[in-house]
Amino acid sequence: MTDLSSTPAIPVTIHRGDYRPPEWQVPDIALDFALGIDETKVAAALSVVRQADAPAPLVLRGDGLTPAAVRVDGEVWNDWHMDGGDLIVDLGERTAATVEIETVINPAANTQLMGLYASNGMLCTQCEAEGFRRITFHPDRPDVLSRYRVRMEGDKAAFPILLSNGNCIERGEEGSDHWALWEDPWPKPSYLFALVAGDLVVNKDSFTTMSGRKVDLGIWVREGDLDRTGHAMDALKNSMKWDEAVYGREYDLDLFNIVAVGDFNMGAMENKGLNIFNTRYILADPDTATDLDYDGVEGVVAHEYFHNWSGNRVTCRDWFQLSLKEGFTVFRDQSFSADMGSPPVKRIEDVRLLRAAQFPEDAGPLAHPIRPDSFQEISNFYTATIYNKGAEIIRMMATMVGPERFRKGTDLYFERHDGEAATCEDFVRAIEDGADIDLAQFRLWYGQAGTPRITARIGTDAATGERTLHLAQLVPPTPGQPDKAPMQIPLRIKAFDLDGGHGAEEERLVLLDRAEMAVPLGRYRSRPMLSINRGFSAPVIVDFAREEDELAWLAAHDDDPFARYEALQQLMLDTLVAAVSGKGGGSGAVIEAVAQTLAGRTGDPAFVAEAVLLPSEAFIGDQMVTVDPDAIRRERLALQGAIGAALEAEWRGVLSGDAPAATDLSRGAKGGRRLRGVALAYLAAAGLDDAAALAFRIFSDADGMTERQAALATLAHGDSEERAHALDIFYQRYRDNPLVLDKWFQVQAWSLRPDTVDAVKELARHPDFTLANPNRVRSLYGALTGNQAAFHRADGAGYRLIADLVIALDPKNPQTAAKMIPPLGRWKRFDEGRQALMRAELERILAQRGLSRDVTEQASKSLA
Ligand code: PHE
Ligand code: ZN
Repeated sequence: MTDLSSTPAIPVTIHRGDYRPPEWQVPDIALDFALGIDETKVAAALSVVRQADAPAPLVLRGDGLTPAAVRVDGEVWNDWHMDGGDLIVDLGERTAATVEIETVINPAANTQLMGLYASNGMLCTQCEAEGFRRITFHPDRPDVLSRYRVRMEGDKAAFPILLSNGNCIERGEEGSDHWALWEDPWPKPSYLFALVAGDLVVNKDSFTTMSGRKVDLGIWVREGDLDRTGHAMDALKNSMKWDEAVYGREYDLDLFNIVAVGDFNMGAMENKGLNIFNTRYILADPDTATDLDYDGVEGVVAHEYFHNWSGNRVTCRDWFQLSLKEGFTVFRDQSFSADMGSPPVKRIEDVRLLRAAQFPEDAGPLAHPIRPDSFQEISNFYTATIYNKGAEIIRMMATMVGPERFRKGTDLYFERHDGEAATCEDFVRAIEDGADIDLAQFRLWYGQAGTPRITARIGTDAATGERTLHLAQLVPPTPGQPDKAPMQIPLRIKAFDLDGGHGAEEERLVLLDRAEMAVPLGRYRSRPMLSINRGFSAPVIVDFAREEDELAWLAAHDDDPFARYEALQQLMLDTLVAAVSGKGGGSGAVIEAVAQTLAGRTGDPAFVAEAVLLPSEAFIGDQMVTVDPDAIRRERLALQGAIGAALEAEWRGVLSGDAPAATDLSRGAKGGRRLRGVALAYLAAAGLDDAAALAFRIFSDADGMTERQAALATLAHGDSEERAHALDIFYQRYRDNPLVLDKWFQVQAWSLRPDTVDAVKELARHPDFTLANPNRVRSLYGALTGNQAAFHRADGAGYRLIADLVIALDPKNPQTAAKMIPPLGRWKRFDEGRQALMRAELERILAQRGLSRDVTEQASKSLA
């Protein structure tokens, strides 16, 4: 006898082109939960209606479930069989029926954190993308939308709070048990179902919508965390208001709840009316959260709230359309955060992230278009490409049509598709119709992977003095896509005239839509200073050879702050790449430009702090044919030290005086702290005698986490006595706060010390380390993979450590394990020795028995 369900899964590839509409819809579903931490009974009643013209079996997906008591229209039913984990019910000629099924699950044993699981004594769910099938049998596809009625019953003491989507319409008690009945009036796909049961306390507030409806808001956390929910609540109310003002979107239930849980695979989840969050994106107070943490809370709260329209009211037809909700929602949360803070700084942060996470993905073996053509495991497609490049593609449309017309397009999109499961194509068509633009060629962005490369050159007609900008584009080959067609690329450009006074020049939007194009610039007596891809109007790489003095001029004078930042980054990058390849010409120009920028720090200190940061080691590596991590670290540290030493007085000036009070979260205060952190890092890099003492003093005097963490991170790079002392103080003070303890692991894994891999290995044996908590795993191992020279240690110790982790974690939590593989997949970019070591680790992973689909897909694609 062979037991099919236990044979290793042969990866099945699912193709976008194979989409077929569902044969059965499920207009209504009633769920009854008898709650228990290690045994929860689920009774589901699905009203099903046939959509297919001819009889078709009802396919209900299941994952790790055994059906009990299958009934159809109240009768015990035997016409069913299992197909792998799925339940196939033969309903004969019926066109409608009520199908009842019981399942029993063990939330405590659910270490994958998908479906119904236990976290710290509380029960909660995570269903996106395909977790609902771990709770009960169901079509579990996003184009099957149902009205949910959820009854749950459990021990009053263990689960005093019972929450689900929609409104609570009844509750009652029976002995030591109590129960609640929730009803969600809005039909939704199963991935938006949520249930929470546990001992929670609430921060309550309310919001009155633009049509005057009062919405009760609740943020639910564990006892003791309540006083760290204020910022999330403010962010929620600001998001609700912003979506009304900017997109005309009003909230549609009387209740909006958020629950924070400590064990969560992702950032947060937009379940209808009951968002579930990683505690990391809810809890913040000045003592435990940095300014960046505060911004993260604000951005993620907004993101999940915005999903109520871009995701829930209009959902995705199938998972190939994931960027329909994610790209658009990221664009919306980016715009919101820009409006709440500093637009140029937000843009710089977003581009930095895109270049750090998405460009490498798009240039490697896991490259995929924002609308993929196939996948094996959808969890592997919650990527920077789907999210962040997806957002850039929406942004380009908005740039091309301007805000008013874009709003007309989105209004039409929401109006046309409200209540539907839509496609990316539906979105593009709504923008075309609503904003009145032809996006025929632009659609290529949805299907073609790879970061387009643009080369720019300025030509001069010697006789007339006419200047021409010659542009050429190349979309590189990516897996499965050897040849690409030219795309439509919106480039904001401006050419400054140094001789004629540049007041007259206008910025313009060039639509590069051919392989090559010549753009007349007009007559300039001397070479114009060209500012190109201003505001990062397109997610592309621009190759444009510019002299140091040109970049320095733009860094100082460009009227687009983002372009000023870009010019300084380019100058730094050119200097570093030259140094790494042994052609170093000195750091004078960079030092001068940094000094210039610093001199303007009174304007927007946050901008200055971003602008004077050196490009990351990874980004420097991305500019090179073969990445040399050791040379990059050496040269980057050398330049950082040179800037630190040359501008010592300036950096000390930044640090003189008191830090803004940690409770002051104004833009100016946050920017001031950010710049202080950068100044301290420069002084430390310069190797000044008093650097460690200075960092330790800042660490000790800090009245908040921003300064404290910045000082600790700086100390962690060195080997001073103060380092050990500070780490110890920090640990003792925060050992009971998981989110802060994550930082303690993280700063050590980020350390530039040569022994960091060994330190990480040691920290993995620390009593506070656990593989059961994704945040903890990311704070240690995720930080290591972001530490380029450490991860790429020439003897392969970093690779081995990550592969060991993947192998150990996969049986527990395949989703989080699979996320650690892409760094190993970048082997092509390194020297032969490292290539061989990286490939060997990928092969070792693949040789494991019983590997998950998640890890199998990522590791095998990474070897190709
Ligand atoms: N849909 C969530 C978001 O982006 C992300 C998520 C995906 C969370 C899968 C959990 C599981 O907002
Ligand atoms: Zn999202």
